Amino acid sequence: SDPDLVARAMAAKLALGDRVFVLGHHYQRDEVIQFADVTGDSFKLAREAAARPDAEFIVFCGVHFMAESADILTTDAQKVILPDLAAGCSMADMAVLSQVETAWDLFEDLGIAADVVPVTYMNSSADIKGFVGRNKGVVCTSSNAKRALDWAFEQGSKVFFLPDQHLGRNTAVLEMGYSLDDCVLYDPHKPHGGLTPEQLRNAKMILWRGHCSVHGRFTLSCVEEIRERVPGVNVLVHPECRHEVVTAADHVGSTEFIIKTIEAAPAGSAWAVGTELNLVRRLANAHPDKQIMFLDRTVCYCSTMNRIDLPHLVWALEELVAGRTPNQITVDPDTSAYARSALDQMLALP
Ligand code: 13P
Ligand code: SF4
Repeated sequence: SDPDLVARAMAAKLALGDRVFVLGHHYQRDEVIQFADVTGDSFKLAREAAARPDAEFIVFCGVHFMAESADILTTDAQKVILPDLAAGCSMADMAVLSQVETAWDLFEDLGIAADVVPVTYMNSSADIKGFVGRNKGVVCTSSNAKRALDWAFEQGSKVFFLPDQHLGRNTAVLEMGYSLDDCVLYDPHKPHGGLTPEQLRNAKMILWRGHCSVHGRFTLSCVEEIRERVPGVNVLVHPECRHEVVTAADHVGSTEFIIKTIEAAPAGSAWAVGTELNLVRRLANAHPDKQIMFLDRTVCYCSTMNRIDLPHLVWALEELVAGRTPNQITVDPDTSAYARSALDQMLALP
């Protein structure tokens, strides 16, 4: 990265000292990750944000929904900064509060709402987390989805899972013994979600029709092709991948799990990794004794994660040094209180 920008980032961090804490998601660019005080998956970063009450500023190198969650979990005096406001998430955008309320109204009309526990993936807006908290549900991440669903099925007989159909389906079917027939797909763009009352009454998992555009690009033929090309290869994928990809893989887990699995792998072993490319490249560079490949043949960054680059980080840090608060992310107090109860429920999972 540009040595001038590196020097400026170092100087600004030094000037701010303990007043600033920089969080970096594993999908961030190397040029940004080098300035993170802590790196992690969504779950670890949420806990880290909650555990730094003394830092005046939390600079979140990740995407918008993560910064919102950090604002909800930090004290009122702390300010959360997202270095580029355009760093959103297409999956989070697939569930809009008014659409989710329409679905819930339908469940009420059918008389099933009392049996349904809403569970939202961390990758959702604060509004959606607020809805889930208001309706006594829980947030989950890719590292605790099974525990969240275990808890939810203790509270009610059905789960309404938002917004990632793949994480919901993969967890229910591959980790909890539900069948594909127990899952139905609610499409917010169709009347009644495209489902009959009978389908909704019989379903165990009502999955929102959302997905990650990055992980959605891995297909079964990517897995078959790499197994043919590299005999003995281990296929390791994120649970946001499609069901047939996760079913065909050898290991599945969150970004933190992926890192730990590669770290523990023996020298000389071969790994095809199905997750965002910044992380896979960093793993390949950090483990030259292992053969680490990207599961797809084409380049596959998360374009919104990549919006946070070194120039944006330097700008944000220098603004803070100058006494201004750039790109602060705030969640309104009412939404924040309900979203917090759903996040706290997640943090309290066994
Ligand atoms: P995790 O970091 O929780 O594995 O989530 C991956 C992701 O897509 C974040 O946007
Ligand atoms: Fe959203 Fe997928 Fe990017 Fe994660 S990787 S921020 S889920 S688009």
